[in-house]
Amino acid sequence: MASSMAAAAAAAAASLSPPPLSTERSVARCGHLFPGSPASSRPLRFHSARRGGLSPATRKPRSLPRAAKAVVAVKADPLKVMIAGAPASGKGTQCELIKTKYGLVHISAGDLLRAEIAAGTENGKRAKEFMEKGQLVPDEIVVNMVKERLLQPDAQEKGWLLDGYPRSYSQAMALETLGIRPDIFILLDVPDELLVERVVGRRLDPVTGKIYHLKYSPPENEEIASRLTQRFDDTEEKVKLRLQTHYQNVESLLSIYDDVIVKIKGDALVDEVFAQVDRQLTSSLDKKTGMVASA
Ligand code: AP5
Repeated sequence: MASSMAAAAAAAAASLSPPPLSTERSVARCGHLFPGSPASSRPLRFHSARRGGLSPATRKPRSLPRAAKAVVAVKADPLKVMIAGAPASGKGTQCELIKTKYGLVHISAGDLLRAEIAAGTENGKRAKEFMEKGQLVPDEIVVNMVKERLLQPDAQEKGWLLDGYPRSYSQAMALETLGIRPDIFILLDVPDELLVERVVGRRLDPVTGKIYHLKYSPPENEEIASRLTQRFDDTEEKVKLRLQTHYQNVESLLSIYDDVIVKIKGDALVDEVFAQVDRQLTSSLDKKTGMVASA
């Protein structure tokens, strides 16, 4: 991934008149898009006044060369991802892996709601009533909560990974109104009979936040095993209600995001699912970088 993006950035840089940007410097400047390469906070400088024959005072202000704009645009437009799927389809598990590889800011509607419950806020108390019944929490609580998190500087700079949001037509339309659209909408597809087993066996580590499963990803040692907790809505009875709610709402999202939807089979091993997710994200990122580099 990094090599094709680096090539695109290099192609953009190559057409600049003196001094040309080296691939390495271009990549470093877009560091947040290239996990593993350091982000640079230095401003971009595409022209040396001395080499151009004019002093800074006498040189006319001019707009950036076309390719330079392209490189700036790459920096300004990181990847935006939505991930959806039935309860326990593996959204949270895949998000951890995506976050590590792509450096996106992970925003989980469910986690934000559980944080409100843990903090004992009024919104948290109301949200819990709906979550216990496996229903969607009303928009007046969820929409602003997610919007505010999404508009924080870190999500704008690094890109975002929206997990379990939007979940209904009205939530998607609230984002559309703000001009917020993903580059890719991943839909994890897992047969219902597996979902119940996954929910009932799921455990969480309150110290690291890591998601375990008693059968599929058991804790590494006794110490971790002894502190694992279970979510209040992770019972067989409640997951059936959550599944119903999912199927009632998911169709309405498909029409809104049909141009960017990618369905991924989520019933394979975690790493195999991630390999598919990774391929799709790389391709999205390549397309994005290619588009701006050739602009
Ligand atoms: P939320 O917390 O989002 O729950 P959910 O959508 O039901 O999804 P889960 O978190 O249960 O599962 P997951 O897909 O993340 O799976 P995980 O990776 O953990 O929402 C909870 C509630 O909040 C909702 O019911 C609703 O009331 C409310 N809410 C949330 N968003 C809302 C919104 N937008 N609007 C209104 N209300 C909202 O994996 C599950 C288990 O399977 C784990 O044990 C894991 O180890 C295991 N596993 C994962 N992948 C694999 C694999 N490939 N193979 C084997 N095991 C696997």
